[in-house]
Amino acid sequence: MSLPPGFLDDLRNRVPISRIVGRKVTWDLRRSNQAKGDWWAPCPFHGEKTASFHVDDQKGFYYCFGCHAKGDALAFLREAEGLGFMEAVAVMASEAGVPMPERSPRERAQTDRRTQLVEVMDRAVRWFRLQLQSGAGGAARDYLSRRGLDAAALDRFEIGFAPDLRQALLRHLTDAGVPEALVIEAGLAAKPEDGGAAYDRFRGRIIFPIRDGRGRCISFGGRAMDPNARAKYLNGPETALFDKGRNLYNFGPARAAVAKGQPLVVAEGYMDVIALVRAGVEGAVAPLGTAITEDQLRLMWRVAPEPVIALDGDAAGLRAAMRLIDMALPLAGPGQALRFALLPSGQDPDDLIRAGGPGAIRAVLEGAQPLVDLLWRRETEGRVFDSPERRAALDKALDDAVARIPDQATREHYAQELKRKRWALFAPPRAAKGRLTRRDAPQPPVPQTRASALVATDPGEALIEAMILALCAAHPDLVARVESRLERLEPTDLGRAALVHDLLAGSSSAAGRAALDAIMADPHVRCAPAISHPAGATETAEPLLLNALDRIEAHRAAREEIARAEAEIQGLADEGLTWRVTQSARARLQADQPSMGGGDDLGEDRDELAARLRRALTEEIWRKRR
Ligand code: UTP
Ligand code: MN
Repeated sequence: MSLPPGFLDDLRNRVPISRIVGRKVTWDLRRSNQAKGDWWAPCPFHGEKTASFHVDDQKGFYYCFGCHAKGDALAFLREAEGLGFMEAVAVMASEAGVPMPERSPRERAQTDRRTQLVEVMDRAVRWFRLQLQSGAGGAARDYLSRRGLDAAALDRFEIGFAPDLRQALLRHLTDAGVPEALVIEAGLAAKPEDGGAAYDRFRGRIIFPIRDGRGRCISFGGRAMDPNARAKYLNGPETALFDKGRNLYNFGPARAAVAKGQPLVVAEGYMDVIALVRAGVEGAVAPLGTAITEDQLRLMWRVAPEPVIALDGDAAGLRAAMRLIDMALPLAGPGQALRFALLPSGQDPDDLIRAGGPGAIRAVLEGAQPLVDLLWRRETEGRVFDSPERRAALDKALDDAVARIPDQATREHYAQELKRKRWALFAPPRAAKGRLTRRDAPQPPVPQTRASALVATDPGEALIEAMILALCAAHPDLVARVESRLERLEPTDLGRAALVHDLLAGSSSAAGRAALDAIMADPHVRCAPAISHPAGATETAEPLLLNALDRIEAHRAAREEIARAEAEIQGLADEGLTWRVTQSARARLQADQPSMGGGDDLGEDRDELAARLRRALTEEIWRKRR
């Protein structure tokens, strides 16, 4: 509904904010100065005994010196009483004795439509829940209990089940008099393009109702029971009720928990939120099948100044953190910060809680790092700053990041903190010793590209890796195109790590040259045409290189999954885990299919080839020409 201009200002002028806040708090009258409209109370948002919550009638604002909650009267009604915007306006209007403006017929029709949609969603929640109790829900009940969800958890999260039938829900709703069009508009059924009969969107899935901050069911998430289903999770489509990017799973209960002093924790999925809540982390939310959006960040900051983002500690999790940093920096300021809790690689909160209990997740959350630490890691980890140019490049990257922060004070603090870290990194060890205790000393970036001790030497992988390195050495122009993937390669030995470093940095080291020598000694490698005849072969070399990178990444992902499976197998067999292992095994199989090329079609005079390679090695053809 649109309000006439000036309506809100009029309400704010008529109703002192203390009257609104006074509905919820008990004033500390000794500390307050009523005549001046200066009020103090224990904060209703973070549960305390002292009065650090300040309300200023002149300014029309509240601010808590403890938890930094802040806003005007409308914000208070929304945050403290969980009201929607219009509901909050209506409360203000009634306090002011002012009638609410008439709604236009169109607005009324829209509201009525939404009310109808909410009713349909509620019917669906009840029906899905009944299905979980029915005979058809047996397998779903077993699955849920295997995942450790008891009756109390199913109740609390209103978990249901959609049977694997084309029109079961649609029939149920239309039999109850709901028009088919409304079922479709609610996103519960879909109509095929070809004009065929409408059918249920969720079939053969565990159902998670998604509610908005006011507790209205606005959509559903469905997890496939069949591990081969096309999508593991399916969310309802965008509807008049549901805007994916502006809502968070479990937001209402999480807001209530945050108001009681719990941290707001952002996980990736439904099962993570449920596991967190059951482990006592009740302020848990999750985005709805997409990466976190700017709107969702703002939504989080409305209830908590420093949400904790819980991320998988693997490469994908870190990449997600980096994207989030880029999104958050231009918004950062007081009351708008982020922390990052990095989980053990390959584990989501649900996995971690199952493996280590509530204590394990609490420890990870307590160790959450502020955004500035992740920013520093991004710019420094695994790099070498052994020249003035490289240090200058680091300075520039950090300056650029800081420059994107709009709030001046925050910007200055970032600059200071980064300067401190930079000083600790570059200061000569002797100078650093006296000032930094061991605990304070930041972890120095690894002196050379990481050579992971965890990488088992799989002969197949070692060969693919050799091809990658040889292709890059023979076609230095390709290095820039695969730079980030090379950085993540985690080579099988230190010599190859040195070679990767040389390729990336355009440098040359004895260890790198020796590693390339060893690689070229393998006939599989040196006989590949793209390597034996580098001139003019860049076009054939690139797809080979990309394919080899795909293969090695798939191999390594598969191995990580298997290692994880072995670690977890002592516990209950987890269907989600089986699914992931099959997926990565499948990806590995697919990546293995296309041939690497070369290998067989030798047809080259060996002496000539050997001479060419010797020349390549002595001339260091992989070095960047300057
Ligand atoms: P994950 O694949 O990490 O699943 O997706 P999960 O949460 O660990 O689920 P379980 O433990 O296997 O049951 C994380 C989130 O990404 C979204 C969902 O919101 C999911 O909770 N997602 C995932 C989708 O929307 N579609 C998919 O196909 C997969
Ligand atoms: Mn999971």
